[in-house]
Amino acid sequence: MSKIDLDLTINNQKISRNDVDGTMWLNDFLREELRLTGTKFCCGIAVCRVCTVAWQRVPGAHMEPIRTCATTLEHVNGTILTTVEGLAIPGRLHPLQEAFLENFSFQCGYSAPGFLMASYCMLDRLKRSPIPKDDVDAAIHDAVGQHICRCTGYVRYYKAIRQVVLETPGLTT
Ligand code: FES
Ligand code: FES
Repeated sequence: MSKIDLDLTINNQKISRNDVDGTMWLNDFLREELRLTGTKFCCGIAVCRVCTVAWQRVPGAHMEPIRTCATTLEHVNGTILTTVEGLAIPGRLHPLQEAFLENFSFQCGYSAPGFLMASYCMLDRLKRSPIPKDDVDAAIHDAVGQHICRCTGYVRYYKAIRQVVLETPGLTT
C-alpha cells in the first residue's frame, strides 16, 4: 500500500484527503467514499466500460474517458474528473441525458452512465475539432463501440448520440 495525499477536482468540487491508499481503485473511491454511485461497476477488468468517467489531466485539457475499475487514485491524483452526477445543471438535464430519455435508449439503465460519459468526452472532442456530418457514425462508433449493454440498447444509444451531435451547433462541418 502506498499512502498519498489526494487532491482531486470532481464535478467542480475540490476533494482533498490525507494519507489515503494510492492503490485504491477510483471506482471504489467514487462509490464507497464519496457515494457517487452513478458510476457503476460490472466486469471489474476494464472490458465493459460501464465504469467510465471523464478525465482531464490539467484544466482546459481535452476530456478523456477512463475506466475507473482499472484506474488507481495515484494515477489521477491532481487532476480533474467529471462523473455522471456532474452532467446536469440544476433544473436541466444535459442534452445527452435528454436524448437518451427521448429515444428510450436504456432499459435497466446500468450501462447508461458509461455511454453518457464516453459520449460526453466525444462532444468535447468535436467542439475542439468539428467533423463532417458523414463521419458522425464512425465517430460514435469510436466513442462507444466498445461499451457493453446487456440489454442490447445499442441502436437507440447510437440514435440519441447522433441526434445530439447533429443538433448541437459547431460540432460538424
Ligand atoms: S467495470 Fe467493466 S470496464 Fe470497469
Ligand atoms: S440498459 Fe441495461 S445494460 Fe444497458
